[in-house]
Amino acid sequence: MIAAETAYRVRRAHVSDAGAIADLINPIIADGGLTAMTENMTVPDQESFIRSLPNRSVYLAAIEDATDSLLGVQDCLPDPDRPMQCDISTFVDLKASRRGVGRNLFNEMLKHLDRLGFRTIRAVIREENAGARAFYRTLGFIETANQNGKVIASYRLD
Ligand SMILES: CC(C)(COP(=O)(O)OP(=O)(O)OC[C@H]1O[C@@H](n2cnc3c(N)ncnc32)[C@H](O)[C@@H]1OP(=O)(O)O)[C@@H](O)C(=O)NCCC(=O)NCCS
Repeated sequence: MIAAETAYRVRRAHVSDAGAIADLINPIIADGGLTAMTENMTVPDQESFIRSLPNRSVYLAAIEDATDSLLGVQDCLPDPDRPMQCDISTFVDLKASRRGVGRNLFNEMLKHLDRLGFRTIRAVIREENAGARAFYRTLGFIETANQNGKVIASYRLD
């Protein structure tokens, strides 16, 4: 159970977070309409994902102070064809939604991305995922395209 008012910190994700990340993301995958991922995430897959993150990737974790449990993760991975752009993903524990975890991850993310020289952040969101679309719009993303059931939203770092 996650308390309504919970203190947490945001730090870089580590390989040792892989089990907690899989536990957080698998119920979101199971929901069916929230992410393009369809296969259950395994711990070795997530460990390997973290170990092989490309240079200039940022992967952040929000950790509840009282319990050291994971509340959410957000990553931004450089676009191989556009070095000034990265692709963002956000996953917040379904039991911790609408408590500002996603927004705080993003505020911390902006500091990292600015230092790393990125100018644009891109989010690819399932069209029917109204919650995530509202979330990114609230953060300042602008929806620019709709391709094959996915909405592309962009944020400019100025
Ligand atoms: C979408 C998601 C990342 C939002 O994270 P969150 O921590 O719940 O969001 P926050 O509490 O920081 O919300 C910040 C603001 O975004 C908007 N917002 C967030 N979720 C929303 C929703 N479901 N409906 C409408 N607006 C929403 C609100 O304006 C909110 O501010 P408010 O609560 O003060 O009104 C989270 O719900 C999630 O992980 N969902 C499942 C996975 C997913 O869809 N990820 C995106 C894949 S592209």
